Amino acid sequence: MPQEVRGVIAKAKGEPVSVETIVIPDPGPGEAVVAIQACGVCHTDLHYREGGINDEFPFLLGHEAAGLVESVGDGVIDVAPGDYVILNWRAVCGQCRACLKGKPQYCFATHNAQQKMTLTDGTELSPALGIGAFCEKTLVAAGQCTKVNPEAKPEVAGLLGCGVMAGIGAAINTGGVGRGDSVAVFGCGGVGDGAVEGARLAGASTIIAVDIDDTKLEWARQFGATHTINSSNEDPVEKIRELTGGNGVDVAIEAIGLPKTYEQAFYARDLAGTVVLVGVPNPDMKVELPYLDIFGRGGALKSSWYGDCLPSRDFPMLIDLYLQGRLNLDGFVSETISIDEVEEAFHKMERGEVLRSVVVL
Ligand code: APR
Ligand code: ZN
Ligand code: ZN
Repeated sequence: MPQEVRGVIAKAKGEPVSVETIVIPDPGPGEAVVAIQACGVCHTDLHYREGGINDEFPFLLGHEAAGLVESVGDGVIDVAPGDYVILNWRAVCGQCRACLKGKPQYCFATHNAQQKMTLTDGTELSPALGIGAFCEKTLVAAGQCTKVNPEAKPEVAGLLGCGVMAGIGAAINTGGVGRGDSVAVFGCGGVGDGAVEGARLAGASTIIAVDIDDTKLEWARQFGATHTINSSNEDPVEKIRELTGGNGVDVAIEAIGLPKTYEQAFYARDLAGTVVLVGVPNPDMKVELPYLDIFGRGGALKSSWYGDCLPSRDFPMLIDLYLQGRLNLDGFVSETISIDEVEEAFHKMERGEVLRSVVVL
């Protein structure tokens, strides 16, 4: 029997979101219905609302979530009703050329539920990142559910579903940060602080956080930044060189998505160092760099989609580290809110007042 639940909808470009009744079908083959316990508010939800992702309104927002599997469709063997899961937007296919090369973290054919969730009048919804979890229940592909230790609170666990994982993975997966490395992180929002946390976890001995907001820099220190630079007061490239014996860092991570800070990251790294771009640029942005510098400085310029994470490998491992007190995920939860407060949470996010507001259901 299809179920009626409450969920947060973006009906039209730029319009405030609203809570509506959503119809959730029973899971079909390969699908699962998940009762959501918590879901973080991410910039991508706001981008959907602003029409910055595509025009397939109405959207069912929310995608950084944890909850309990309620029911599964035919052929689902990896998860069962009652399992505590983090939802992911990288359900890997196992058959594309990336998967066949043994690199499923780059899967080119990730999938979502086949059936549609709808409004009560039958209007089909587009779930954000194929999830749609500002909702009491949601329908996903079973591969989007990753089982983790249920001792981790949902408001914390859910954050690994997107931005915090992107940041941690930018450091540990894409950047390959190692013991004793020096790392600079440009932008200290949820993603950048995830990168600080990832660098700390990987054993980096120097972690330099760069931002234009002193409060954000203070928070970055709490996550493990050893040095901070307010780049509205001083040149971050010069300062980073000064802090690293004149050389620059081994790994420079850009977690904002601006050409200017990408260029800063490019020049703040040591020769043969690595630049990781995890911030998401706008379509009209361009970066201009001297071609000879790209060649002459050597190293690697990499992009990090979702922190190059493989949910089945990374989520349970990071939750275990969290439960052992070795990974600070609590620090990302600025506040918990109700499903009716998402619009206000967008404004707090725009004003830079929070790392993450998390809807608790
Ligand atoms: N120089 C340094 N820091 C900056 C600059 C700048 N020119 N402009 C903005 N910042 C800082 C902000 O002060 C803020 O602390 O960058 C941080 C960005 O953080 P958030 O806005 O909270 O964004 P976050 O959720 O971390 O996402 C960062 O990754 O996933 C993408 O779409 C997301 O592109 C965005 C990026
Ligand atoms: Zn694949
Ligand atoms: Zn997100």
